Amino acid sequence: MIAMAARKGGCGKTTLTTHLAVAAVQDSRRVAIVDLDPQATAAEWSDGRGDEPPDVVSTQPARLGKVLKGMKDDYDLVLIDTPPTTGEADRVAIEAADLVLIPTRIQTSDIAAVLRSIERAAGQEKPTFVIFNDESAARRKSVAEETRRVLGTKGISVAPQVIHSRIAYGESQDISRTALETEPTSMAADEIRALYEWVGQQLNGKAGKPQKRKAGA
Ligand SMILES: Nc1ncnc2c1ncn2[C@@H]1O[C@H](COP(=O)(O)OP(=O)(O)O)[C@@H](O)[C@H]1O
Ligand SMILES: [Mg+2]
Repeated sequence: MIAMAARKGGCGKTTLTTHLAVAAVQDSRRVAIVDLDPQATAAEWSDGRGDEPPDVVSTQPARLGKVLKGMKDDYDLVLIDTPPTTGEADRVAIEAADLVLIPTRIQTSDIAAVLRSIERAAGQEKPTFVIFNDESAARRKSVAEETRRVLGTKGISVAPQVIHSRIAYGESQDISRTALETEPTSMAADEIRALYEWVGQQLNGKAGKPQKRKAGA
């Protein structure tokens, strides 16, 4: 069970949720998305897919426990997409999750939002990783590395796979697909598959425990 949490809109929660879900479907897993966002972006994305997996269930924070219980035996992987607002949704999602992923852009204001999201996950001692999303290919790699280093000093781990800004993400999402389906040999598809593989390793505990947050950081 994976929770996507970030108290900021537009940082890529839904994009990464749908893309990781389809990567898992293509890996022959039974996959569901639980959409806790009242704006129901993931659910609308699913409407356009008809019966094609993954299944997407739109629900509210108060119902999450019950919904997840009913899903337990039917799915190998459940991803929970959350709204950007502070409230119950990210709390209950993180509580239910084995792994918390926090997408962010590499900008000071976004990083500040990351730190707030991390606090919530840290309070529950869940394995938590930041994912750099929508990174410009033109930007020097050193910016990402420096941001990674600074977060590291606070005990915050960043996924090794950076997701870049690519048109295929938005375009595919708009037609209820993912880049894995519309452009399976693209760089977008490659980086999502790499991220998915890494996520799988985290879930299986193969890569060891993620760094624990330092006290007072
Ligand atoms: N890596 C990316 N490259 C290009 N566009 C992106 C990328 N990630 C997100 N977007 C676009 O940014 C917008 C917000 O992304 P979304 O996943 O809906 O964010 P959130 O769910 O966190 O609010 C969408 O239009 C999406 O297509
Ligand atoms: Mg969203």
